[in-house]
Amino acid sequence: MSGIVPAPASIELRDDAAPFRLTDDARIVARGAGAAAVAETFAARARAATGFGLPVVDGEPAASDLAFVVADGEAPGAAAEGYTLESGADGVRIGADTPEGLFRGTQSLRQLLPAEIERPDAAGEPTGGWTVPAASVADAPRFAYRGAMLDVARHFFPIEDVLRFIDAIALLKLDVLHLHLTDDQGWRIEIRSWPELTGTGASTSVGGDGGGFYSQDDYRRIVAYAAERFVTIVPEIDLPGHTNAALSAYPELNCDGVAPTPYEGTEVGFSSLCASPERAEATDRFLADVVREVAELTPGPWLHLGGDESLATSPADYRDLVRRIATAGAATGKTIIGWHEMGASRELPPGTVAQYWSFVEPEPDAAELTRSFVEQGGRVIMSPADVAYLDMQYVDDPQGPLGGRLGQDWAKGPTTIDEAYLWDPAAVVPGVGEGDLLGVEAPVWTETLGSISEVEFMVFPRIAAIAEIAWSPAGPRDVEGFFGRVAALGRHLDALGVAYYPVRGVPWVE
Ligand code: ACM
Repeated sequence: MSGIVPAPASIELRDDAAPFRLTDDARIVARGAGAAAVAETFAARARAATGFGLPVVDGEPAASDLAFVVADGEAPGAAAEGYTLESGADGVRIGADTPEGLFRGTQSLRQLLPAEIERPDAAGEPTGGWTVPAASVADAPRFAYRGAMLDVARHFFPIEDVLRFIDAIALLKLDVLHLHLTDDQGWRIEIRSWPELTGTGASTSVGGDGGGFYSQDDYRRIVAYAAERFVTIVPEIDLPGHTNAALSAYPELNCDGVAPTPYEGTEVGFSSLCASPERAEATDRFLADVVREVAELTPGPWLHLGGDESLATSPADYRDLVRRIATAGAATGKTIIGWHEMGASRELPPGTVAQYWSFVEPEPDAAELTRSFVEQGGRVIMSPADVAYLDMQYVDDPQGPLGGRLGQDWAKGPTTIDEAYLWDPAAVVPGVGEGDLLGVEAPVWTETLGSISEVEFMVFPRIAAIAEIAWSPAGPRDVEGFFGRVAALGRHLDALGVAYYPVRGVPWVE
């Protein structure tokens, strides 16, 4: 079974024509700026799986070779992430205008190969050999921003877990990993000018499961690993609420000058930076230092500054703090992203992006707050919680391998894969249409998730639905066809050792 998730804009599979056969004679002929690096990333995986040499070379491709080409005019419509892929008995050729487009094309090639291509242990040729069906693909994404979010604050995930997660989402052509780096339960990124943030502030997590944080070098390693997979890291410092970890580390950030104890529960909405003029010097210095250090570590264009659930902040204090937070953020030169509540401010820096996290049927204020960003010149990332929050329980998880103890149900109950698939980001908020959208993101919150396999179990396979909404053309959705492609993806996830929940309805292959 072959099939690509997310579905390409156009694909023709010629089952009656001879396939391409990858053999030990194959070379990867890389042409154009940046093509060789993409070829090496693909070759590393394919060498490990096949045991073949697969040298990356210049020159003319033979029928046994793979040609990876970066040149103007290769991608459909000159799309930055677009590519074409041709395969058959006379070779495989992927063409793109950019290395990024070429990389996306190689993710399609992975999925057209037998799932054993994911195995790191050269366990032998699969039945039928290393074949790629005869196919013509012309592809480009619907949205530029296709994200997943990992909450590393409620539970901390070591660097190797984050790299593993990046690998898994890149297969689905996601191009953003948003790291929720700070919350009440922990501060996870080293800030050299405020060292106690990762002293006291990083000592805890939900349920007393221990602390942890990324040093600046760790974070740079994550950024570099992601960049090799054309994934941009979006760091989030959640402000002005969700700040108990910071407040516990520095008494001077508290209105009463007293540091609260570190927090290991799961309630929200009780902490806030102090808006009072007596604390203005410390608070503004904290804001400027934190956003400067985080921005300096982050080559990507975005800085997420939170803004959600500041229930312990009065509306006037909230607007004042958001103005100061956003001003500090904009001074770094980054584009600010905020959860949709930030739209309460009419003084957002130009271009500030909303992340919408209400439901597919918007709650009363959420639509208006989101439109406020658009009115101020910003665009919107869609993450409706009842379809895109991947920590929501599965419907029949009590029978599942992890016994129903994972996930939450506050976003209108459990979420089926059909629900995650059958919604249109351009039809959620009245007045926020296709052209107002930057993209789509699937967050996973970790109140109940303490290991990367638990995260993977909640994320897969539902993230395939979000990836397809973000990448594939708008239009009627064919659930059955999607389920068939998800079943093929399941074999790749098996070979990768990525945990997933075998939801009902998908024709999983043993
Ligand atoms: C959120 O779920 N509080 C953004």
